Amino acid sequence: MTDRPEPTHRALTSRLASLTARLPARVRDTVDRYLEVVDLLREIKDPRVARSLGPSGLRGLILRRGKQGVPTQFQARHQAHFDWTYPSDHADMAELYRRAKRGQWDGETYLPWATSVDPDNPEVPLLPDGWFDYDILARAGVKLDDAEQRRFKHSIVAWMLSQFLHGEQGALMASAQVTEAVQFFDGKYYGATQVVDEARHVEVFHRYLDTKMEKLYQVNDNLFVIIDALMEDARWDMKFLGMQIMVEGLALGAFGTLYKITREPLLKQLLKMVIQDEARHVHYGVLALREHITKHLTDCERREREQWSFEVALLMRNRFMAYEVYEEWFEGLITREQWRHFVGDAPGMREFRHVMFSRLVPNLREIGLLSDRIKVDYDRVGLSQYFGGLSADQLTAEKMLGDLDASNGALSAGRAA
Ligand SMILES: [Fe+2]
Ligand SMILES: [Fe+2]
Repeated sequence: MTDRPEPTHRALTSRLASLTARLPARVRDTVDRYLEVVDLLREIKDPRVARSLGPSGLRGLILRRGKQGVPTQFQARHQAHFDWTYPSDHADMAELYRRAKRGQWDGETYLPWATSVDPDNPEVPLLPDGWFDYDILARAGVKLDDAEQRRFKHSIVAWMLSQFLHGEQGALMASAQVTEAVQFFDGKYYGATQVVDEARHVEVFHRYLDTKMEKLYQVNDNLFVIIDALMEDARWDMKFLGMQIMVEGLALGAFGTLYKITREPLLKQLLKMVIQDEARHVHYGVLALREHITKHLTDCERREREQWSFEVALLMRNRFMAYEVYEEWFEGLITREQWRHFVGDAPGMREFRHVMFSRLVPNLREIGLLSDRIKVDYDRVGLSQYFGGLSADQLTAEKMLGDLDASNGALSAGRAA
């Protein structure tokens, strides 16, 4: 990631921009997409991280495997760990298992599915006014009237929920894999409850999209890259790190933001229930990794994981630009660069990033992946404000939801992330 690119790169980028400006819109967009891939690879400084993310980047960003309309096969290579002595080996995980059993709920009967949802109804907005700055679009030559703005917000929420759904499918598979691979027997008991939780999350997000939003977007290429990397990595702790800490941590922030601001009661209740489960999942990730990373890894292995998490955090921060919505609404009307400006600088999206990183960064600190060496990089990209926050093992779902309820739907202006 280069917030302040060096002069030669900046000069090259602007030269390319002036060259591509003369191309037909569709070709220009394709060139822009490839340039983003080049930029991504350029950002990854550690060769081990490049080896880990590179093949996934090829499959996700160039071949766009998630968008071929056919099932995707991943080659899992992890080891299944059995223990025939059935030890009680982790008291905190055993306690989480007990809580998880008590916290089970039925997605079919527990949510008010009879609620009538009209995504375009201004009386019950999915997103508040002020989420987007439509003047940016107008300056780029596209003016949306009130009805179009409402339909556009419908598309954006459907896109977000679609990515939540695809992420939940990733979590379902990853939690099954980590249940096999984890070395704590209490972790296996707990992990089995998470597999059920994730299946339920897939069920309720899919039902909401299918029956209430009546819209489903394809998996975002960058999300595909992360899921691909997790599925194919043979190391159990990388799966844990990627899914339980990175994807789940960021998802928890994203669910929380949407829970806070939406006025649609069914979606609000759905998110509340999912947040309660997800808080346990991230807590489990912290428990499983804290000891492993701080006590059992070599310094070299720790550095690789530290760098990997940083790169994935940036991937998630900078690249979830809802291009699937762009292609539906604005392809040929504005450039991808103008779209990035409109989406990336939207007040609501800044809020999203703020809450997401306030959830994620403290967990990285807690599991030992925020050394002084990597802090410099986080600081450089404007994420140092999150170093001191509460990690998942210090935060209950009730506290999280209480804080979100207390802030009651207001967008916090001027976030830096
Ligand atoms: Fe989930
Ligand atoms: Fe989860």
